[in-house]
Amino acid sequence: MRRVVFNQKGGVGKSTITCNLAAISAHQGLRTLVVDLDPQGNSTHYLLGDAADDADDTLAGLFEQTLNFKFNPKKTAEFVRPTPFANLSILPSHPNLEELQGKLESRYKIFKLRDALDELADDFDAVFIDTPPALNFYTRSALIATRLCLIPFDCDDFSRRALYALLENVQEIRADHNRDLEVEGIVVNQFQPRATLPQKLVQELIEEGLPIFKTYLSSSIKIRESHEQAKPMIHLDPKHKLAQEFTALHDELRR
Ligand SMILES: Nc1ncnc2c1ncn2[C@@H]1O[C@H](COP(=O)(O)OP(=O)(O)O)[C@@H](O)[C@H]1O
Ligand SMILES: [Mg+2]
Repeated sequence: MRRVVFNQKGGVGKSTITCNLAAISAHQGLRTLVVDLDPQGNSTHYLLGDAADDADDTLAGLFEQTLNFKFNPKKTAEFVRPTPFANLSILPSHPNLEELQGKLESRYKIFKLRDALDELADDFDAVFIDTPPALNFYTRSALIATRLCLIPFDCDDFSRRALYALLENVQEIRADHNRDLEVEGIVVNQFQPRATLPQKLVQELIEEGLPIFKTYLSSSIKIRESHEQAKPMIHLDPKHKLAQEFTALHDELRR
């Protein structure tokens, strides 16, 4: 199953959710791939630690070779790197993705990610795509390349307005390019059960019929340690409340 984690707002938990769900998927024995489309490379650093910086073959190379015709282009699999965790691999990001974007866009390379991932269809059971905080070439490529879309939501009123715009954008891509695309669910992140505003907000979204996952992710400073140590929660502290919430959320995903 292939899914994209998308929200054009930054700091809502896309990279954290991508890596933690992928780590659980791999831990449960599924051959799992993370695709890090954000030039900032937060997921790449989270899963590879310091080794992230010496990745030679990255997504930038994969995209770049679509711009320069070669008789023997490298296969997508050659850009995939193992992580220190069993069953978990990554197509790493690179800062060059930023400057490549304009060229890729002007030469209509919007379907190349889908083609590249199709090549890996038999190699992985689950693919999680992390995206930059923008509706740009890379996020569009990801929404075209997948069937399912997860939307992290951080429970503030400003995000709520952005959420409607975001859902419209997904619908537009669905209508124009990818009939199979659907919002699998909205992930409530950094939920504070004792505060009344987030409760009310989430309740209203449910009443409007939006697909909100039943599992809400708590706010925990442990996440910072998890990032610093380059260890997803399931490996850092499997008994931690947040690790268990990620597992419960993973259980809610479609098989
Ligand atoms: N459940 C959580 N509890 C505490 N901090 C969180 C949680 N989820 C994300 N964060 C923090 O919020 C910041 C943004 O998260 P990140 O996953 O990088 O978001 P995005 O990829 O959407 O920009 C990071 O500093 C991360 O540590
Ligand atoms: Mg991110």
